Amino acid sequence: MSRKFYITTPIYYVNARPHIGHAYTTIACDTIARRQRLLGAETFFLTGTDEHGQKIERAAQAAGKTPQQYADEISAEFRQLWKRMGISNDDFIRTTEERHKKRVQELFRQIRDNGYIYKGTYTGQYCVSDELYVDGAQPGDPCPTCGRITETVHEENYFFKLSAFQDKLLALYANPEFIRPEARRNEVISFVRSGLRDQSISRSTFTWGIPVPDDPKHVIYVWFDALANYLTAIGYGSSHPGAQEAFKKFWPADVQMIGKEIVRFHCVYWPAFLMAAGLPEPKTIVAHGWLLFEESKMSKSRGNIVRTETILDVLGSDALRYFLLREVVFGQDGSFSFDALVQRYNSDLANGLGNLASRTLTMISRYFNGEVPYPSHASKTAADDAIAEVARRTIREFGALFDQFQFSRALEAAWALVAAVDKYIVENEPWALGEKRDEESRSRLATVLYTAAEALRIATALAYPVIPDATAKIWVQMGLGDIKKLALSDLGWGQLRLATKLGDIQPVFPRADKSAIERMQKMEEEQRGPVAETPAAPAQANAPQLAPGAPAATNEKISIEDFAKIELRVGLVKVAERVPKADKLLRLEIDIGTEVRQVLAGIAEAYAPETLIGRKVVIVANLAPRKLRGMESNGMIVAASLEGGKPVLAGFLEDVPAGARLK
Ligand code: ME8
Ligand code: MG
Repeated sequence: MSRKFYITTPIYYVNARPHIGHAYTTIACDTIARRQRLLGAETFFLTGTDEHGQKIERAAQAAGKTPQQYADEISAEFRQLWKRMGISNDDFIRTTEERHKKRVQELFRQIRDNGYIYKGTYTGQYCVSDELYVDGAQPGDPCPTCGRITETVHEENYFFKLSAFQDKLLALYANPEFIRPEARRNEVISFVRSGLRDQSISRSTFTWGIPVPDDPKHVIYVWFDALANYLTAIGYGSSHPGAQEAFKKFWPADVQMIGKEIVRFHCVYWPAFLMAAGLPEPKTIVAHGWLLFEESKMSKSRGNIVRTETILDVLGSDALRYFLLREVVFGQDGSFSFDALVQRYNSDLANGLGNLASRTLTMISRYFNGEVPYPSHASKTAADDAIAEVARRTIREFGALFDQFQFSRALEAAWALVAAVDKYIVENEPWALGEKRDEESRSRLATVLYTAAEALRIATALAYPVIPDATAKIWVQMGLGDIKKLALSDLGWGQLRLATKLGDIQPVFPRADKSAIERMQKMEEEQRGPVAETPAAPAQANAPQLAPGAPAATNEKISIEDFAKIELRVGLVKVAERVPKADKLLRLEIDIGTEVRQVLAGIAEAYAPETLIGRKVVIVANLAPRKLRGMESNGMIVAASLEGGKPVLAGFLEDVPAGARLK
């Protein structure tokens, strides 16, 4: 029976359209899954979307859609993108599917029957953006993960007895393979050593979630719901014999890949839930770092995302896959830039592997009529043996590094082989040998080209999981058929069969010039909206300022009576949405205690609308109404204006009721 291999990505929140940060996780998993298939494992690769919870409910509301409509649209975008990128996932789970909902309830029931769930009341702080209970925080404290102000939650909840698992978790972490890399493991160990509190696992103040079995006033906490996908997708909790069999075969997972910001959920709560349900823990959880763009984590709320489609359109999916795995040291943060992407593409793909393939195959075609020639013992030199030796060593090193998730070093090793063969070709001058007609030159030429082709075959096979499109083409050009049928176990030197007939030779990585960078940058700028297209709106709506029409601070003093004329109030944002065709403008509905006001604010470039809902702001309540884009704006939001005009909204550290007057 063949070995099985089960690998998962996190399931992506549907509040944001996919960007290359999401693609990064998916690509890393796809690469691992492809290598495992070549190693002969029966592989199951799972990804999907995380669709419940308050964050999604609010995002849908901001977009003026039902949560289900909204989730349907964005989930479909993820699926289409993965399809376009040739991601080889075996299933795609959505948490709003019936199969998932039923099985999550089953998991909840199981843990409750085992005595690890009880009812209580939670009073404390919650971060909706991270769907995180922030233990020990005070009203007004920021979320330790994202820095947004937490909200106070006071509600009846079901609790999970996390405190009962401290020792068992620490025993689990004694296995150094469980959490990787080491730095993340140490973080988790010290967190758990400092003590664990029971964890709320239901919410009762909104409805967008899976009902708690036998108590539908509660919905299951979105992280419990989401983590369970790794079980439900492969058949946990199903009464169907086929599903039960799949579950038995694939659980526990071999590799669960995540980003470093969700380590606590996956390395503390997740194994504790599994222990409580009497199920085994995954074998390895691997956390990667963040993709940074313009110096901070690429994310929707920061507005610094790069769309995957742009790179696919201009350079293709292999370019992105190779770049991310080669350039970023896995486990650490890495910066994305279009310059670096194009530079890597040209140096390693176009001029590296691509050029090696085309020069080697073109010469075989020209001098040997398109058939792999016979190397001859008589014409062999130490240089040929050296290449064979480098290739053998590369196969070993690549495998060892790759299986330790050190993708950049594994690729470095494979490309050292490419460089060695390039040098070998230059030194042995096959083109000069090809001009000569004598027997000896001809025999030497055969040996040199066989050696180059064999090394090319090995480099291509190793690179396949990372750049599947181009390597599949090179494979066909080499006359070797479908690269997916390759078995990595027989990748030894000398297995390239003599007289293999080559296919049509075409370049696989056309060189990119400078205009590629400009094209991609322009495509992204167009997506974000050109700055010039801003409405010629009055300054007050365009860039929030401290006081109505405030000129740059003057020295003139005003009396307290003058100040008292300005009515500043605390407002609670109920609705926030973009204004069509106005890149900077948001339309807000703000509760100021006595009424709900419509306010238009020029803050869309700094704040995504859904991040504002539920937030307390300061508004100038007695400003004369004015019309913008045909809509009435009734008041003005107060914000600091940073250099470059970026607005930062004023807020409070303590919890304040909507309507409170500032004086
Ligand atoms: O966390 N750099 O979903 P999510 C690198 N639904 N990786 C990034 C990234 C960036 N700039 N931005 C996003 C969730 N990611 C939960 C998971 S699992 C039971 C529930 C990656 O959409 C990162 O790996 O916010 C993160 O883990 C993943 O996208 C999903 O992020
Ligand atoms: Mg996230």
